[in-house]
Amino acid sequence: MDKLIVHGGHLLEGSVFVSGSKNSSLPILAATLLTREKCTIRRVPDLSDTNYMTQILSSLGAQVERASGTVIVEADKIISEAPYDLVRKMRASICVMGPLLGRTGEAMVSLPGGCIIGDRPVDLHLKGLEQLGAEVKVTGGNIHVKATDGMGGRSINMRGKHGPTVLGTDNLLMAAVLTPGTTVIEGAAAEPEVVDLADFLTKMGAKIEGAGTRTIVVEGVKELGGAEHSVIADRIEAGTFLVAGAIAGKRVTLKRAQPEHMTGFISVLEKCGYPITIDGDEITIARAERPVGAEIRTEPYPGFPTDMQAQFTALFATVPGLSVITETIFPQRFMHVPELARMGAQITLEGATAIIKGVDQLSAAPVMASDLRASAALVLAGLMAEGATEVNRLYHIDRGYEHIDHKLAMLGAKMERVKG
Ligand code: EPZ
Repeated sequence: MDKLIVHGGHLLEGSVFVSGSKNSSLPILAATLLTREKCTIRRVPDLSDTNYMTQILSSLGAQVERASGTVIVEADKIISEAPYDLVRKMRASICVMGPLLGRTGEAMVSLPGGCIIGDRPVDLHLKGLEQLGAEVKVTGGNIHVKATDGMGGRSINMRGKHGPTVLGTDNLLMAAVLTPGTTVIEGAAAEPEVVDLADFLTKMGAKIEGAGTRTIVVEGVKELGGAEHSVIADRIEAGTFLVAGAIAGKRVTLKRAQPEHMTGFISVLEKCGYPITIDGDEITIARAERPVGAEIRTEPYPGFPTDMQAQFTALFATVPGLSVITETIFPQRFMHVPELARMGAQITLEGATAIIKGVDQLSAAPVMASDLRASAALVLAGLMAEGATEVNRLYHIDRGYEHIDHKLAMLGAKMERVKG
């Protein structure tokens, strides 16, 4: 297994280009199953997760071509059973369920495993599809969804105890676009990635109103056509580089970003004393003279995103004073805390709340990457730690960050990837 050796103490200066969004690419690639015509998706980041999704599309019978960031899919003849060995590798594979049901009237997808950030139920996905009129059976670790004569547009409540479900909303959207009648999705997720999916579906001929709000209205159509689409910027990758600039920057500029999707955490960085300037699709962060901590609660979009929680925990580990982060979306999402503690961070966990007491400097230690964002947080912590931090199990990072080590090195970070 590859590992990254991060040599602390090198200030970051310069600019990096933000990649296309992983969490937009995955459902949009799945949505190409909804038509037999050719779809061209641009700015798809080169990640193991997007590679898994293209493999799943191929195994379902679609023709898939990939040239750098562009993926061309022609799903002319497809089957409705997703391959267990691929689906179990990536939870997001669950988002092929909706398009398979919409296109073929059936879907067989294995239950996604739980993962390190906590239990990952799909009850809201299944409840939503049942409300649409589908028959849902879970047997032998597989979800089997089948269209019935009762399929038809109606009002569907997608609310969950931890707020809306992003991929659950995506699945319902992709099933509803080819379901006769008017479907009203209540309690929908409003993330930019859901809006991007709706934009792509609309280009294919779908009739969707309200994407980006809690109520999405879909007018079913008979069939959808091919379309071209360029996915939005990855707001979490961009946010991760902003935190790198906060921890180790002299001055870091992001290019091809979409700051309008990042207000939930840019506002926190500004309140903590980090000067931020925005000029179109460019965002610059500079050193804070006297940084201060903050109290944060993760919320569904447009609130502070759970996917930025680990990175801010790493930032606050060396910001003077106390900071408090409460995780309301995935209450167990603190795998990075014991690893940061190995580097000298002073963090107390009380249920789903982390209380962080800033220390002067972290010290390097061999640390274990776990989930995607926790792993990125450990790399960020190593940027100014004393010594060389060894981040193991790099495959977690490669799932969601396109060449993070190259991009950080372009900013002046000193690190090497050791093939394991
Ligand atoms: C998406 O996951 C993202 N992944 C996650 O990013 C992100 O953390 C999450 O949304 C929340 O913003 C992709 O888009 C590929 P949810 P998703 O369904 O859709 C509960 C990353 O780092 N829930 O919005 O799977 C669930 O347990 C990844 O890029 C149910 O109870 O998350 C959680 O508490 C990690 N029942 C909350 O809802 C369900 O049926 C939000 O989960 C579904 C979800």
